[in-house]
Amino acid sequence: MQEKYHIVTYGCQMNVHESEKIAGVLRRMGYEEGSGTEDADIIVFNTCCIRENAENHAFGNIGALKKLKKSKPSLIIAVGGCMTQEKGKTDVLKKKFPFIDIMFGTLNLEELETLILRKKQQKKKVIEIREKEGDIVEDIEAYRTSYPNAWVNIMYGCNNFCSYCIVPYVRGRERSRKPENIINEVKRLVAEGYKEITLLGQNVNSYGTDGGSEINFAQLLDEVASIEGKFRLRFMTSHPKDFNEDVVLVMKKHPKICRLVHLPVQSGSNAILKEMNRRYTREKYLLEIETLKKHLPEAEVTTDIIVGFPGETEEDYLQTEDLVKTVDYASAFTFVYSPRQGTKAATMENQIPENVQKDRIMRLVELVNGLTRKKSEKYVGKIVEILCEDYDEKKGLYLGRDEFGRMGYFKSEKNLVGEFVNVKILRANGISLFGEIAGEDANAEC
Ligand code: SAH
Ligand code: SF4
Ligand code: F3S
Repeated sequence: MQEKYHIVTYGCQMNVHESEKIAGVLRRMGYEEGSGTEDADIIVFNTCCIRENAENHAFGNIGALKKLKKSKPSLIIAVGGCMTQEKGKTDVLKKKFPFIDIMFGTLNLEELETLILRKKQQKKKVIEIREKEGDIVEDIEAYRTSYPNAWVNIMYGCNNFCSYCIVPYVRGRERSRKPENIINEVKRLVAEGYKEITLLGQNVNSYGTDGGSEINFAQLLDEVASIEGKFRLRFMTSHPKDFNEDVVLVMKKHPKICRLVHLPVQSGSNAILKEMNRRYTREKYLLEIETLKKHLPEAEVTTDIIVGFPGETEEDYLQTEDLVKTVDYASAFTFVYSPRQGTKAATMENQIPENVQKDRIMRLVELVNGLTRKKSEKYVGKIVEILCEDYDEKKGLYLGRDEFGRMGYFKSEKNLVGEFVNVKILRANGISLFGEIAGEDANAEC
């Protein structure tokens, strides 16, 4: 009987895609996907450490395996991802969960097969974390699980050292993939029938500046968007310090690039932006949005915001609220600042009390939800093109997203996953839209 694997993923899109690579490695070794932890022969945790609750989440789930491991000693438990790459974290993990068999980091994913084989031959744990980033390994074939969407790394790592962020410490310095490797991968994905390609990097706008590519991000985007075939192209994340008009002009040239830019602002206060080491001002940020809208009036923007950063006054917070209203975001991810060991902000004085942080996040979430709801309502009566992604068994409806990332539900007798469908929106509910296939007498369950 074939051995089975189960992968548990935390964190960002980057990690989701890395889990696809982990699945690729395991399948190459002969494992097949199991149905959960119970029937697995190997369980891999791909962790995140961006905020404390991401870590706690993983701790809880790893801890819950103690009994299972006891009753099935042959089960291999492996922990990788950003958390293991944190300084001193493997010791913490070893102490808390002595039953973990393998630990690996973000910088030696390609060694996973060797580590598993080694573990199979020895009783001792295998802990292998590389400190320094090596060359980009191109031959890990991802086992993709999110058709019709596909993620493509254009670069790894981050050089920015925003004062609150742990990513540069756990992902190493920026390394850009060669343009020909990226272009060939996208060509292959499009030929295989993938309909939405998202180019990934912590700061895509600095693509190539590490010397890994002769062309810059705008040129790369232009080349990728020139690949034939009907597909949507997205990219994330753009850093406002580097986002520029060249990229906007490439977007304008290619309708297949979604008119949606994820441009994390983090704060609307210049004083806080400075302390965050973001290297742009509120004014520069707003100017970028102006440039975007000048060329593409229909474009929408999404963002990430942190509240309760050390030293954030009520006045600073209100400037964030004001900026949110000015930009009128399509949606926003909002976070309470979480101190991360080893980062500059964690040692800053005037950390904000929890009750103040909570109050601010609640006000911000309400503001953002209000904007999102209002935008959703504007959809009612319109026909939008939805890329059908899945079938919701509970609702009995197909679902997918429009170019701006809005989730839309509709009824169909035929399986439409992977197809672009024109849907007439009949009703909006918070961030979700409900409609019927345009031109057909389908009656959506609204
Ligand atoms: N590279 C991207 C974001 C990566 S992390 C960028 O520069 O925008 C995703 C988001 O997590 C960040 O945008 C930020 O809003 C949030 N984040 C990062 N560190 C955090 C921390 N210590 N506490 C709370 N939120 C944090
Ligand atoms: Fe973190 Fe800043 Fe790098 Fe984004 S750009 S990953 S927020 S350090
Ligand atoms: Fe992503 Fe979390 Fe690592 S957000 S880069 S998985 S710390």
